[in-house]
Amino acid sequence: MRSTWKQRLAAIDRRGFLATAGLSAACSQKGEQAADEEPPSQLGAQVSAYGERSPYETAKRLVPDLKRPQIGSTTTPLADTEGILTPSSLHFERHHAGVPPIDPARHTLLIHGMVDRPTVFTLDELKRLPSVSRIHFIECSGNSGREWKAPGAGDVQRGFGLASCSEWTGVPVSLLLEEAGLRRDAKWVLAEGADACKLFRSLPLDKLLRDALVVYAQNGEAIRPSQGYPLRLLVPGFEGNTNVKWLRQLKVVDEPYMAKDETSKYTDLMPDGKARIFTFVMDAKSVITHPSGGRKLSGPGFHEIRGLAWSGRGRIETVEVSTDGGKRWKASMLQEPRLPMAFTRFRMAWEWDGQPVELMSRAIDETGYAQPSREDLAAARGLQSSYHYTGIKAWRITASGEVHSV
Ligand code: CO
Repeated sequence: MRSTWKQRLAAIDRRGFLATAGLSAACSQKGEQAADEEPPSQLGAQVSAYGERSPYETAKRLVPDLKRPQIGSTTTPLADTEGILTPSSLHFERHHAGVPPIDPARHTLLIHGMVDRPTVFTLDELKRLPSVSRIHFIECSGNSGREWKAPGAGDVQRGFGLASCSEWTGVPVSLLLEEAGLRRDAKWVLAEGADACKLFRSLPLDKLLRDALVVYAQNGEAIRPSQGYPLRLLVPGFEGNTNVKWLRQLKVVDEPYMAKDETSKYTDLMPDGKARIFTFVMDAKSVITHPSGGRKLSGPGFHEIRGLAWSGRGRIETVEVSTDGGKRWKASMLQEPRLPMAFTRFRMAWEWDGQPVELMSRAIDETGYAQPSREDLAAARGLQSSYHYTGIKAWRITASGEVHSV
C-alpha cells in the first residue's frame, strides 16, 4: 500500500512529530517549541504605511565588494524565491554608471528620427494611454558567464542570479511610434537611457512593434529606481541591457548605430576570432533551485525537486529532470500558467535513498530549442565567450546531503 505524506515525511523525522501534513522535518522542531510557549498576550506591532518583511527572513541580493559599486551588479537569490515572480526588492541589478536620481515630473520620453511628428511624452501623458500588464523575465546575457571558462558556479545565486521575473505595466511601443507617425522606410530604433553613461542600444524595429513596452510599473507599483524609475524599455526575451533603464529617447533610424555596448561589449567571440553580434534572444535555460549548491538535504526520503526554466523564444514546453547524472530523463510537472518569455516553475517528487547522486535539468521551449549540454555548447561556440551561456547544470549530492556544483 502506498504510504501517506505524513508517514513518508515522518520516516525521516526521528522524533515522529508532525503537526500538519507537509511540515518538513526541519520545521517540526520549531513547531514543537512554539507549541510550548504561551500565545502572545501583548499587542503586536502597529500598522505601517509601507510594508516590510519579517525580521526572520534574510534572503538578499549578493552585493560584490567592488571599488566602484556603481559599475557592477547584484544577483537575485533565486533559490530563496517561490513561484515565478521575483520580489522587486530582490530583482537583479546591472548598472554601468550607477542609479540616477530622477524626478518623474521632469522626466520625458522623446520619440524622433524617422517619424512624421517628433513627440515628447511626459509621464502623465504616457499613463493616460491604453496600458497593458505582462509577466516577463529579464536576464543579463552575462548570466552564468563564468561557466564558459570555469564551470562549477558554487550556487544558484552566483551562477544564475542575473535573471529575474516581474509583472510589468506600460504602453506598447507600437502605439507610441504610431502616434509619432512612423515612416515606412524605418528599420531600427535606438533606445537611450538617462544615466551618466547614456547607455544605448540599436534594436530591430519589427521586434519593438511586435511586443515591446515602455513600462512605468513593476509588480503593482512604480518601477524601482534600480530598475529604471520612472521609465524602462521592456523587450521580452531579449538580453538584459536592451531593456534600457531610465529610458529618455527612442530614435527611429534605418540601420544599427554600433554603440559601445553592442560592439566592444555584448558580442560573442567565436573560436575563429570573429564575433557574433546583435545576439539578442536569450536561449532556453533551466536550473534546479532545490536542492542546489551550498545547501544541505535534511536526510534521505521524500524531497521535491524544484526549479526555474525560461526561454526568450516563447513558452517552456518541457523541463526534463535526471536524478542519475544524465542517464535517464523524466518530464517534470510544469506550473501553470506557462507564459511566453517568463519564468516557468517546474517540480518533481523524488525519494532520495541517501546515496551520492547528480541532479540535472534541461529545458525545451515551444520552438523545439533544447538546452544543450556543456559539451554541445562548447562544440558550437567554443569556450572563449562571456555571454549567452546556457549549458545544462548539474548538482552533486553527497551521502551526507551536502549539495555541490559539478
Ligand atoms: Co547577446
